[in-house]
Amino acid sequence: MTDMQRLSAARSHPYHHVRADGGCLASGRSPRRLIRTGTETKSRRMSSIAPTIPILIAPNPILKAKARPIGKEDDGLVRDLTAKMFASMYAAPGIGLAAPQVGQLLRLIVIDLMREEKSNPLVLINPEILDLSKEQATREEGCLSLPGQYADVTRAARCKVRYLDLAGEAQEVEAEGLLNACLQHEIDHLDGVLFVDHLSALKRSMIMRRLAKEQRLKRDDPKRR
Ligand code: NI
Repeated sequence: MTDMQRLSAARSHPYHHVRADGGCLASGRSPRRLIRTGTETKSRRMSSIAPTIPILIAPNPILKAKARPIGKEDDGLVRDLTAKMFASMYAAPGIGLAAPQVGQLLRLIVIDLMREEKSNPLVLINPEILDLSKEQATREEGCLSLPGQYADVTRAARCKVRYLDLAGEAQEVEAEGLLNACLQHEIDHLDGVLFVDHLSALKRSMIMRRLAKEQRLKRDDPKRR
């Protein structure tokens, strides 16, 4: 198989189409479809207000660093960054983004699962995991910092998370399914952990090599997606 065939096979991988709710972060929706559907008025509005910021691609030392907690003094910065992060996430398109992925080592996450094409944006400031179930669940994940790469990741099946919302109010969320995986995946980013760090060393190095190769091909031929 040539590189070109391999890339196009990867692009037409069934998960991209069938598992729209499959990978955390990789929503599986094409940008065109995201724009064409009439129900994402909120996401379109949010992406039109704020400029997007480039998403860092692994390996990048910032993605391996620990992010610092957000304080009152960060209020203005956080509002501005949140809007830009939503714009970048919707444009990608993805369903979750953590501040370190846009080069800001702050404990800030944005999520929008876009269930049934409806926007439901969630902002988590200084999220903390209060509880993880003993029971585990496996789900395919992807990541905007590892574009085109997917793998089954096993995590606790349920989690309870405390965070501050944009108004500074303490909130708690209990999650299972896609939201659970997404929360754990994004909170991992704040501690420099990527989904591939949950895999065996062999699987991880295979994915990282494939990513590097695809990025190199993309650089050499910018027309390639
Ligand atoms: Ni990610």
